[in-house]
Amino acid sequence: MSVPPSSACSAFPLSRLPAVNVATVPQRSPLRYPGGKTWLIPHIREWLANVQARVLVEPFAGGGIVSLTAVMEALVDQAILIERDHDVAAFWHMVLENGAPLAERIRHFTPTRELVSALEQSGVRCVAEHAFRTLVLNRTKRAGILAPGASSMRAGENDKGIVSRWYPDTLVARLQAIGEYVDKLTFFEGDSMRLLEPLLRGWGKDAVAFLDPPYTAAGGKKAGARLYAYSTIDHAALFEMMARCKSDFLMTYDGAPEIVALVEKYQFQAVRVEMKNAHHHRLPELVITRERRFS
Ligand SMILES: C[S@@+](CC[C@H](N)C(=O)[O-])C[C@H]1O[C@@H](n2cnc3c(N)ncnc32)[C@H](O)[C@@H]1O
Repeated sequence: MSVPPSSACSAFPLSRLPAVNVATVPQRSPLRYPGGKTWLIPHIREWLANVQARVLVEPFAGGGIVSLTAVMEALVDQAILIERDHDVAAFWHMVLENGAPLAERIRHFTPTRELVSALEQSGVRCVAEHAFRTLVLNRTKRAGILAPGASSMRAGENDKGIVSRWYPDTLVARLQAIGEYVDKLTFFEGDSMRLLEPLLRGWGKDAVAFLDPPYTAAGGKKAGARLYAYSTIDHAALFEMMARCKSDFLMTYDGAPEIVALVEKYQFQAVRVEMKNAHHHRLPELVITRERRFS
């Protein structure tokens, strides 16, 4: 079943690149991420091949799939990830600074409801424990949602319950693959609304930004507080910042009227990509760029 794209964004053309089936793109992040951007990878590849930047900044990093892909496919020399969520930040700090002990713990852990619940209640004393807790909760919560109040998986995949997304060998392999690129990946914990502009100004035209902010409450996915601990940003301020910056960018958004108006206000370019959600409804996502790229 399909529903028409929201009338607000239907004036934008469809991208000439389709959303890919996520199974056809290498899954490089150990984190499952609600709103993950694996489907966008063909757009990212084409954009980065054209702009030839040295540095990619990903200010709303989450699972970091775009940065990981960009350095692993040598599309840029360096990627800088920024994330405000302290739990997700602990994970990236550990992975990039000391991934081996994390891999060792993953190898020897089998989640049960009791163990996961004990881990969730436990206070974390160090970044190693914090990172491990983030990963376990991310892989055992419904849809990878870490926001307060998120529930654990019940039936899980193939009725395997809480272990159904816990693949130790795959997770260790992903950590090891990331380990090969740690000198090309930098992580900052913080608020991108403050950090991004000075960072981009410092790099000038050598840097580009990929922005995947939490979506508007009015958007098709109602991302909001249900998905992320930090779920609101000032969308108008973000657009204004990108209009001021010299760096090239690619940004994804829902097709809410507020976003359509901001694209028009700053004369950015946008295309629609039609995504199917879990109920097979088609939901348009916008890919927004400074130059015309995908139509
Ligand atoms: C849509 S998700 C990013 C998903 C990511 N592109 C992926 O594929 O995994 C948005 C992320 O931005 C983070 N975030 C929200 N506000 C932020 C801010 N002001 N600064 C940095 N990160 C923020 C959220 O915690 C969330 O992880």
